[in-house]
Amino acid sequence: MPMWEGRFSKKLDERTNDFNSSIKFDHRMYKQDIKGSIAHSKMLSKQGIIKEEESKSIIEGLNGILEDIENGKLEFDPNAEDIHMFIEAELTKRIGDNGKKLHTARSRNDQVALDIRMYLKEEVEELKKNLKKLIHTFIKKAEENTHTIMPGYTHMQRAQPVTFAHHLMAYVQMFLRDLERLNETYKRIDVCPIGSCALAGTTYPLDREFEANELGFSKITDNSLDGVSDRDFIIELLSDISIIMMHLSRISEEIILWCSWEFKFIELDDSFSTGSSIMPQKKNPDITELIRGKTGRVYGDLFTMLTVMKGTPLAYNKDMQEDKEAIFDALDTVNLCITTLDPLVETMTVKKDNMRKAAAEGFINATDCADYLTVKGIPFRDAYKIVGNLVKYCIENNTILENLDISIYKNFSDVFDKDIYDAIDLVNCVNRRNVLGGPAAEQVIKQIELAKSKLNI
Ligand code: ARG
Repeated sequence: MPMWEGRFSKKLDERTNDFNSSIKFDHRMYKQDIKGSIAHSKMLSKQGIIKEEESKSIIEGLNGILEDIENGKLEFDPNAEDIHMFIEAELTKRIGDNGKKLHTARSRNDQVALDIRMYLKEEVEELKKNLKKLIHTFIKKAEENTHTIMPGYTHMQRAQPVTFAHHLMAYVQMFLRDLERLNETYKRIDVCPIGSCALAGTTYPLDREFEANELGFSKITDNSLDGVSDRDFIIELLSDISIIMMHLSRISEEIILWCSWEFKFIELDDSFSTGSSIMPQKKNPDITELIRGKTGRVYGDLFTMLTVMKGTPLAYNKDMQEDKEAIFDALDTVNLCITTLDPLVETMTVKKDNMRKAAAEGFINATDCADYLTVKGIPFRDAYKIVGNLVKYCIENNTILENLDISIYKNFSDVFDKDIYDAIDLVNCVNRRNVLGGPAAEQVIKQIELAKSKLNI
C-alpha cells in the first residue's frame, strides 16, 4: 500500500500506478532529496519539533541510503510513486518509526519544488562551464584568423569584407549573452520554497531561514501558495536553453554551408563527419545537422511547459510533474550539443585561400569604391550609381574591379585615379574598417581581449 493508504481501501491499479509514477525520471534528484531531508530533519530538531536523537538517526539513515545508491547497492524501486516516497519508505525500512517523523511540517509539494531548484542550480553551473569551454574554443579559432579575409553576407549574398575571426567573435557575443541570461535565471532558481508545505504553510514553529541557509540558498520564497506552484524558473531556464540552441543551430547551419562543395570555406575533421551508405564520395556534416534538428526538440520542451502551466489554478497540481522530463531533456540535449560542437569546431580546417577567393569574386569592395569617390567630393548617391555601372560592366566582361584598367575607370568618372587600386584592395578594405566593433584586425583583437576579460581568462 502507498503511504497515503489510510483513506483508501484499494491499491492503485497497476496501470495507473505506472502512469502516475515519476520515479523513472525523478530518481535523478535522489541526492538533492536526501540533502533536503537532512537539512529538514536538522531544522526540526533545532526547533524542538523532533528530538535530537530522532534527527540523528534520520540523518544517519539518509546518509546510508545515499551511500548505497551511489555504490549501486540500492536500486530504485520502479513501483515507487516518486523519488521522495521511495527514499522516505527506504528510510523507515532501515530505521523504523523515527523515519516516519521526517515528513513532519513538510509536503511533497514543497519538497519537490525544493529538490528541482537544488538540482537546477547545479545544472546551471554545469551548463555555464560547458558554454565557457565552447567560447574558449571560438576565441582560439578567432585568434588564428584575425587576418583571414572572407566575404560577409546579407541575404546570403556577398556584401562586404570581414574576417573569419570577426565572424566567430559575433558568436562569442551571443554566447556571452547566454551566460548573462543563465546568471539572471540562477538568481530566481536560488530561492528556497521549503516551509510552504502543501500550500498553506504550517502551524509548526519552523525556521525557514535556517533550512535555506543549510542548503546554500540566497533567499526564501515569500508566499506559500507561490512557493509550491511556481514553475517560472523552469520556463525561464527552458527559454535560456532555447536561445542557446538557436545560437548553436545558426552556427551549425553556417558550418553545413561552409563545408559544402559550393563554399568549401572549411573542412570538418574525418572524426567529426559521416559517410553515406551508397555514395562513396560523401562526407556529411551529420553532427551539425543533428544540432540544428535537436533545436526543434528543445523548443518543444519550452512549449510543453508554457502549455502545462497556462491552465493550472493555484496551488500544486499533478500536471506540474511534467516539468521534469521537459527540463531534463532540454538540459541533456543542450549539454550534449555544446560538448559535441566544441571539438568539431576545434578540429575543423579553415580554408583561408577559398575564403579569400570568394571575397575577391564577390564585388564586396564596391562600397569602398563608392566611398573613394565620395571622399573626392562626389555625392554618395551619384558615387553609388557610378560603381553600380562599373560592377555591371565587370559582370558583362567577366572581370573584377581590381583588374580593370585605369582608362576604363576614367570612362565611368574622371575622378578615378591610380590610388583606386589601393582603396579597393581587400586587406585595406578590412583594415580601414577600424571602427569600434569593426572587422579590422586591431578591433577584433580588442573584442577578443574584452571577451576574455568577461570570462576571466
Ligand atoms: N512526483 C510529484 C511531482 O513530481 C511530487 C509531488 C507530488 N505531490 C502530490 N501532492 N501528489 O510533482
